[in-house]
Amino acid sequence: MTATSDDPRSALAEFDEELQRASLQGHWKMELPKFMEPRSRLHAMHWRWSDLREYLMRSGDLITVNDAGRRTVQLMNPGVTGPRQWTTHTLQMSFQLVLPGEIATAHRHTMNAIRFVMEGGGTFTTVEGESFLMEPGDLILTPGWTWHDHINESEEPIVWIDGLDVPLVFALNGAFIEEFAQPQQQVKRMVRTEADGTQGPDGTTWYFKGPETRHRLLDMGQSARRDEDVVYEYRHADGRPTLPTMLCGMQLLRPGEVTVPTRRTSVGIYSMVGGNGTTVVADTSFTWDRGDALVVPNWTWHHHENHSSEDAMLFFMSDRPLLEGIGLYREERS
Ligand SMILES: [Fe+2]
Repeated sequence: MTATSDDPRSALAEFDEELQRASLQGHWKMELPKFMEPRSRLHAMHWRWSDLREYLMRSGDLITVNDAGRRTVQLMNPGVTGPRQWTTHTLQMSFQLVLPGEIATAHRHTMNAIRFVMEGGGTFTTVEGESFLMEPGDLILTPGWTWHDHINESEEPIVWIDGLDVPLVFALNGAFIEEFAQPQQQVKRMVRTEADGTQGPDGTTWYFKGPETRHRLLDMGQSARRDEDVVYEYRHADGRPTLPTMLCGMQLLRPGEVTVPTRRTSVGIYSMVGGNGTTVVADTSFTWDRGDALVVPNWTWHHHENHSSEDAMLFFMSDRPLLEGIGLYREERS
């Protein structure tokens, strides 16, 4: 039987179409779930350092830093859909190569960024005129809208991790970028120690040295119980996280340690700093070595295992402060 306009269902269908033409929609068109929790679209991912490094060095043969602006190889997650792919829906991790004598010229942007040095040395990142020496294991912050440039004055290539909140800033349509008038800023001060890296009266630090981080982490490991996660979080003196949108940290896996399965509403992007081990994400096991990178999707059960007789260390980036700021952070341990 064909529906007529006397049929209430047909009248509703006609009404729905009328609303649609007026750029409106009735809430009755949506299915209301009785229960909901995050189901991550992200893929759990693993990249090997040997591959990452080889691709990065090949990029050094094929493109100059002048042509590229920044010569980075970016981690891409096929679960991020939209106009661009990123490492996760909020944070991006990339690997940057600067060859001897090269300058990555000065600019600023509203995206917050961190640099974590993988290998090399004798290179400086200048932030707002403060020139920070870059050595393996160092973390340097370039908070949003701070001028920054990089120069490699050594004889060796340098490789570091770039971590940015660019997917979030793009999603919020909040990106501003400006080039500095000169290729480099004028250097006001050289910074080589953590004490020198403290900025301004609010006591933020933009510089965390690798050896100090390592010592703090090992000290924490000495006093921690066996069933406790040993995690050093890069925070400012007053407890604020690394950046408003990003918490960086270093996790120690003691010999034989297997961590408690956990899931968080935040994403985790890991760079394995030392040792080797296995990370189990949902039902997939990733066996990793030094330098490998991993993505742990949000709200996904995962744990780490170190079956070796050596310590393992995992550098990570998380969007936890962002989620905490708007009441969305949750964590469960099994
Ligand atoms: Fe930048």
